[in-house]
Amino acid sequence: MKTALVTGATDGVGKATAKKLLSEGWKVIIIGRNPARCNSTVTELKDSTGNDNISAIVANLSILNEVKNASDNFLQGNQPLDFLMLNANAITNDRTITSEGFEQNFALGYLSRALMIKKLENVLKTTPNSHILAVVGLDTVRLDFEDLTIKNNFTGRKALGRWQWSMNVFTKEFCSKQTIPLNLYMPGLVKTKILANEPQPMRAFVKLMNVLVGISVEKSAENVFSVMNDIAANKKNGACYSWKKERSFPKVEVKSDDQKRLWELTENLLQPYL
Ligand SMILES: NC(=O)c1ccc[n+]([C@@H]2O[C@H](COP(=O)([O-])OP(=O)(O)OC[C@H]3O[C@@H](n4cnc5c(N)ncnc54)[C@H](OP(=O)(O)O)[C@@H]3O)[C@@H](O)[C@H]2O)c1
Repeated sequence: MKTALVTGATDGVGKATAKKLLSEGWKVIIIGRNPARCNSTVTELKDSTGNDNISAIVANLSILNEVKNASDNFLQGNQPLDFLMLNANAITNDRTITSEGFEQNFALGYLSRALMIKKLENVLKTTPNSHILAVVGLDTVRLDFEDLTIKNNFTGRKALGRWQWSMNVFTKEFCSKQTIPLNLYMPGLVKTKILANEPQPMRAFVKLMNVLVGISVEKSAENVFSVMNDIAANKKNGACYSWKKERSFPKVEVKSDDQKRLWELTENLLQPYL
């Protein structure tokens, strides 16, 4: 039986993907920040799929110490890891600094994912044909290395763009150094709650676009599953997928030493949590 770890699986794309994997006979461990939602998701997915091989780890992934504990908790199960889906996200539109001193969107969207990859690197290496899928959106904004907490001119869109830029650039450097396949996944517009708190007029625009072109979470999970099959069949590494097809990497503004600089910065920031 194959094992998946899916972050942010108490709702949206993550929950629907967990359900799809269970119905395909996988064992699934979900990570969510809310204990009650984790419990109800486990019960609901057991009942709806008839597969009991689901459990939850509770962690607020904006806090790197909790990412570390959640990863250690997974490792204590002494189990393989065939598929790591780095999916959790919530867009924080007010400038929020976590108790560990990071801008919240950057901590959740980027640092927590890089940390989880590093913590789970060994089990991924020892599980044959394992791979990682990082779920991102299209918008990117180059990271300002001198202003990591966005003291200047903060906006939610900028914060979102920065972590997504970082995930793009990290993926390129990771794939140049490592053998564990890491691919990016853009789900397109999916009818979930994630964009419900966007400031107006964006909120109204998103609502309209959801009606016109948004897809259901079930369809999105089918797309993820089809992408997983393509990755496995074609041994993809460092590819970018949208919906269920491979696409070219989005155009990302990168200065010549950004990739190495981000890698070094990430190693330094994550060191206390490894
Ligand atoms: N929906 C779209 O149109 C769209 C487009 C492009 C990219 N994406 C990306 O797709 C991924 C999934 O988004 P979605 O649309 O499915 O959103 P969603 O329905 O809001 O689901 C997000 C999941 O992440 C969890 N989460 C949020 N903050 C967390 C934290 N601090 N610690 C642990 N878990 C946390 C949520 O938990 P709760 O249940 O507690 O809220 C929920 O389970 C995200 O990475 C998002 O950026 C989505």
